[in-house]
Amino acid sequence: MIETKCVPATPEAIAEAAARIRSGELVAFPTETVYGLGAHALNPQAVAAIFTAKGRPATNPLIVHVLDIEAARSLVTTWPAHAQRLAERFWPGPLTLVLPKNASVPDEVTGGGPTVGLRAPSHPVARALLEAARVPIAAPSANRSNHVSPTTAQHVWDDLKGRIALILDGGPTQGGLESTVLSLAEDPPRILRLGLIPPAAIEAVVGPIRLPPLSSAQAEQEGTPLPSPGMLRRHYAPKVPLEIAENAAARVQELLAQGERVGWLALQVPGRWGENAVVIEMPTSAEAYAQRLYAALRELEAEAVTRIVVDAPPQTQEWLAIWDRLRRAAA
Ligand code: TXA
Ligand code: MG
Repeated sequence: MIETKCVPATPEAIAEAAARIRSGELVAFPTETVYGLGAHALNPQAVAAIFTAKGRPATNPLIVHVLDIEAARSLVTTWPAHAQRLAERFWPGPLTLVLPKNASVPDEVTGGGPTVGLRAPSHPVARALLEAARVPIAAPSANRSNHVSPTTAQHVWDDLKGRIALILDGGPTQGGLESTVLSLAEDPPRILRLGLIPPAAIEAVVGPIRLPPLSSAQAEQEGTPLPSPGMLRRHYAPKVPLEIAENAAARVQELLAQGERVGWLALQVPGRWGENAVVIEMPTSAEAYAQRLYAALRELEAEAVTRIVVDAPPQTQEWLAIWDRLRRAAA
């Protein structure tokens, strides 16, 4: 057991966090998407400790966080025109670019693979930490492997206390969902994970790209290989069985009648449902819904519900990443 400190992200705390990163320890910090669990990306032992703390399979590659284009270029063998255009448009921000890694990036970071995912975060605490540490920071989401990503310091604490040195508390994260992961190691570029940057915004910069299968079940059916280990079924899942329902009210009623304790992420104000229904009214804009989703799932876990029912969101582009996470959680 490691003693875990959770402190407000003051300049002093960020300086301490940077020193710990440099010396090979693990530090959780806020980004504009979700909290990350950071380690010195060029130190194989520090990187290996991330996998231990999360209980993550060593083959699932990590995203390396950098300050800017220059720092990103120092880690790859090629920096194509697409990368330059996308980074100029979306960095700092929630877009991860996958490119061929150079020898400075340890195999531990990439799960033994030839490519590395890079992103420049926009959150001021993440940037201050990168500036002070003066090294690239490898950081997956700061949850136990297969649990939902953390959007508050409390979530990180709940998953990783006793396993990491320090948590920098920067308040709830803005985005709520993870970055979009785009492979530029193939032509045309391919989205490996849907995220906060919508596909259409990327296509506006680089032209047509390939989209991921809607679910790993679909990929298995079609016999297409999974593009990234993070696309595994039941990734991003709460600990409770979850289903998406077109007629959620009827489904909730049915489950209650079967004696279940039901959590309901509702898009319509549903009225009163008695003590075995825990109803969370969700925002109706995609942006606000995304921000709220993971915290709502953790709240339902804490309420000890036995089933979760989610109102099916609208079938529009802006809900694409939310649909992706809900489908995965339901798988
Ligand atoms: O918003 C985010 O991306 C957050 C914050 C902390 O930056 N990070 C995050 O990391 O979500 P993680 O490790 O939880 O998810 C990264 C995803 C995984 O699905 C992983 O398999 C994929 O990106 N990935 C990373 N590097 C890759 C690579 N070189 N090739 C293919 N997939 C990669
Ligand atoms: Mg993750």
